[in-house]
Amino acid sequence: MLLEARDLHISYGDIRAVDGVSFMLRQGELVSIIGANGAGKSSILNGVMGIVPLNRGTISFEGTETTPLAAYQRARAGIRMVPERARVFPRLTVYENLMIGDYGLRKRLNLAKQIAWLHELFPILRDRNDQPANTLSGGEQQQLSIARALISDPKLLLVDEVSMGLMPKLVDQVFNLLRQLNRDHGLSILVVEQNAMASLKISHRAYVLETGTCVHEGKADELLEDPRVRQVYLGQ
Ligand SMILES: Nc1ncnc2c1ncn2[C@@H]1O[C@H](COP(=O)(O)OP(=O)(O)O)[C@@H](O)[C@H]1O
Ligand SMILES: [Mg+2]
Repeated sequence: MLLEARDLHISYGDIRAVDGVSFMLRQGELVSIIGANGAGKSSILNGVMGIVPLNRGTISFEGTETTPLAAYQRARAGIRMVPERARVFPRLTVYENLMIGDYGLRKRLNLAKQIAWLHELFPILRDRNDQPANTLSGGEQQQLSIARALISDPKLLLVDEVSMGLMPKLVDQVFNLLRQLNRDHGLSILVVEQNAMASLKISHRAYVLETGTCVHEGKADELLEDPRVRQVYLGQ
């Protein structure tokens, strides 16, 4: 198992954001956690990344318990996150933003090759290499944020609501890209999303989160057919 989370509890003061959630992700899988705004999706990803502490529960990555590891150590172990709202540094150039993802963790030998690959995936980043990141559109900033996470050649990519604020056409584009990274490059990906339809379409398996608890789980194609899921999450 690449990632195994058991009985996660995360609170902010009295607010129980995550209340006993368990999930797993095998090497090479693309798994979604879908849920409404406030369901606890970002808290879960931040818990996996080590940005917020767990009140209870365990997370293991490649069989190693992550609790003692700080966020940078989890990054070094191969976990990278594309945070909610892209979070690029507005005044830094596209290239500088990209290089931040490298922060000295990788063997530098492959850096040129990695950048060439990212420029192939995201030609806009090559075209805008020297421009400040705040001159990019929202969709382009999402691409930069994904590229920044990929530069370190992660083993597991965590993706937080990449569809937020994007036009439907761009949502399809970015989800197709995630599918391509998973299929063609074998990248293991954990997506958290409000956009149930778009994320289920590209996922192998999914978990449905409601106010901090997991209420359904299964293969993505089965969840797409499930009448309860269709009614609540797909509006059908
Ligand atoms: N830093 C925080 N302080 C207090 N409450 C928070 C904080 N972050 C999230 N919450 C609360 O925790 C719950 C889950 O939030 P979040 O994990 O961001 O959900 P989602 O990503 O699914 O929208 C919400 O009720 C939210 O208001
Ligand atoms: Mg969120």
